[in-house]
Amino acid sequence: MIHSIYDPDVPTRQVHEAVGMETSWSPEQLCILNDYAWWLDEWARGERPTGPRMVIEAVAGSGKTTVLKEMLEITRKICPEHRVMASAFNRHIAKELMKELKIAMKKGLNAEILGSSNTVNAGGYMLLKKESEKRRVSMRMEGSRPKYRALCRQVWAEWLGDLGKKLEYEGGRDWHLINVIAEELDMPLSPRKVWYRVARDLESVVSVLQDCGFNPTDNEGEDRESILELVRKNAKSRNLEGSSFYAFPYTMNPVDMVREVLIRGRDMAFEREICLEDPDDAVVPRPTWDKPDNNFINEGRYDTGLFPLRRWGHKSDEIADNTQLNWRPESHVHNYATMSFSDQIWLPSVLNLRLNRYQFAFIDEIQDLSVTKGNLYRSLLVDDGTETVVLVGDTRQGIMGWAGADRQAVKKNAEASNCISYPMTYSWRGSSEVVRSANYAMLEATDQARKLWPTHPFPRFSDHQSPDLESWPVGIEQETIDPRDLVAKIQAIRAENPDATQAIVSRLNGSIGPIAKMLVKKGIPITTPDSSEMLKSIKWVLTAYKSNEYAWQTLAKQRLDEAIKRAGGDKKAAEMDDLYVKAMDEIDLARSLIQMYPKQGISNFKIPEFNKWVKNDLFRDSGNPVHLTSVHRYKGAEADYVYVLRSIAHEDAVKEIFLLDHLMHKSPQTAQEELCILYVASTRARIQNIIVRVAR
Ligand SMILES: Nc1ncnc2c1ncn2[C@@H]1O[C@H](COP(=O)(O)OP(=O)(O)OP(=O)(O)O)[C@@H](O)[C@H]1O
Ligand SMILES: [Mg+2]
Repeated sequence: MIHSIYDPDVPTRQVHEAVGMETSWSPEQLCILNDYAWWLDEWARGERPTGPRMVIEAVAGSGKTTVLKEMLEITRKICPEHRVMASAFNRHIAKELMKELKIAMKKGLNAEILGSSNTVNAGGYMLLKKESEKRRVSMRMEGSRPKYRALCRQVWAEWLGDLGKKLEYEGGRDWHLINVIAEELDMPLSPRKVWYRVARDLESVVSVLQDCGFNPTDNEGEDRESILELVRKNAKSRNLEGSSFYAFPYTMNPVDMVREVLIRGRDMAFEREICLEDPDDAVVPRPTWDKPDNNFINEGRYDTGLFPLRRWGHKSDEIADNTQLNWRPESHVHNYATMSFSDQIWLPSVLNLRLNRYQFAFIDEIQDLSVTKGNLYRSLLVDDGTETVVLVGDTRQGIMGWAGADRQAVKKNAEASNCISYPMTYSWRGSSEVVRSANYAMLEATDQARKLWPTHPFPRFSDHQSPDLESWPVGIEQETIDPRDLVAKIQAIRAENPDATQAIVSRLNGSIGPIAKMLVKKGIPITTPDSSEMLKSIKWVLTAYKSNEYAWQTLAKQRLDEAIKRAGGDKKAAEMDDLYVKAMDEIDLARSLIQMYPKQGISNFKIPEFNKWVKNDLFRDSGNPVHLTSVHRYKGAEADYVYVLRSIAHEDAVKEIFLLDHLMHKSPQTAQEELCILYVASTRARIQNIIVRVAR
């Protein structure tokens, strides 16, 4: 008999025959799997109104993913005929589950892969597709022009148009409101620049509101309050603090604009085009390419003024299109709607779309789900209230706060599906020494964070423990090495055991470059989980490099100047600015990759060729390569030896790679996320954690 939780009247149960006993399950795991099997069995026999509803919130390496996989197997044995989805928001995790689903499908489970990626977003796509069919339009996804960029510009241009009309102003550089905003933001007085800046900032706010699942109502007053509250709550984690949203003399102006953007986005989502309502008066910047012809102004590109479209006469359509004010597909096919990527999550929620398809939902890494994203998986399920829902995750690994996920969200999603909570506290991944090392690192880091935010309840990272088994491997005690000894250490381990897997994890991408350089020089093969994403992040640096070989020097300086301006002249604050730190990180990475590129010289530098080299030659997947990866990309993964890159020497100084100073100080939420990132990194090893840190 083993412990049982879901029925308070039955505290113990026999092991159900569907639970596979080839694995030596821990008592916690066995309780979960057994309860799952009995509950499912009882539901299948009509003795319970719903299938199992469980939330497993458990430490890293406790076997969450392993338990999910076994549940697929139990489901196949008890009732294989119902439709099953097993998904996650994180692409890499979703792919892992896809592999398991394919195996289960071969054995006869009626499972389905969501789209081609198996992410929950792909489920959103399916919902929109179904709705499009109902409305008899075809559907496609946006290309390089983002939909909400166009809608924000549209609403902003019209709003300024109204203002201009009221003032009977024919346009130019003399906009009082624009001056006030520029001054407030400490920007150079270029109305054109301010116009683009405001449009961009509106877009950021719209994206935050969409992530929160905000749905405009008919009550403008209430909406205004909700919008302000959501913006306030997300300002820090979503980087809205320096936004021009706050620079308007009357805050309700931008509030009303973002509300209008969302209303258009929602109500016209299935229209072929969403265009300016007032194409004459809408006010836009004079494009730099607008040559002085016999037109209304002679200065051409030096004229940074804003004008109503009608002033361009027959050219106004062209100006509107070039400024991307209209959301209009390029092709001539009739009857189709173009969706943005955020629509996949937001529209199903605000239009209350339901797929009514899956009897079973298994969701991994739920700490990455905001409530809106939770609504999305719920809308894919059968709508008779009988569905089985198993949510699995770890708030200690919540590293997606910037995308709207938080601890409250895990709780709310579990409540929304009426889930019973099952803990797991043993880590089956790492040896006792790895667990000890992780606990030590987390104790120290939590101490540091508590000094900054004494009242914030940080998660209990020390729940993490090894299985209580005599035979459990002790592993190798944590070791701290200097970055200069990294190569020798890697070589020593490779020599001793050529099959041992080794991974170097870093919180910053930029430090991956110099390490790659060190390893490549010594002929050690390296690989990385996602080079495309890495290349995408440094595209802007490569482009600058292509036009100027010394770009990094000017780029870095430029970015710092911008940050100083944002910080009102405060250089120290500027150096801690998120955008600045990220840009520097990208410059670092690009620079070291280019330095490794065998085709030296700018004259034959071609970005596609360079990218191909990075993907195929630099990072290979042969010869038991060392994994070089950011923490974010290594979630859910493991290696025998893990190097946690805590600091490196960087331009005569020591650069800390984890617990980034500016984020530790910014807010308790961002500090918590820094701890979580370190936690993920510290819990990836099977045998040993090796801390890489500059010796002081
Ligand atoms: N009962 C068990 N006995 C032995 N090994 C186990 C057991 N359960 C899980 N494992 C092993 O422990 C490791 C971690 O498991 P898994 O990846 O499922 O954990 P997880 O909780 O999903 O981790 P993460 O939090 O990193 O996503 C895997 O190598 C898995 O095979
Ligand atoms: Mg996992």
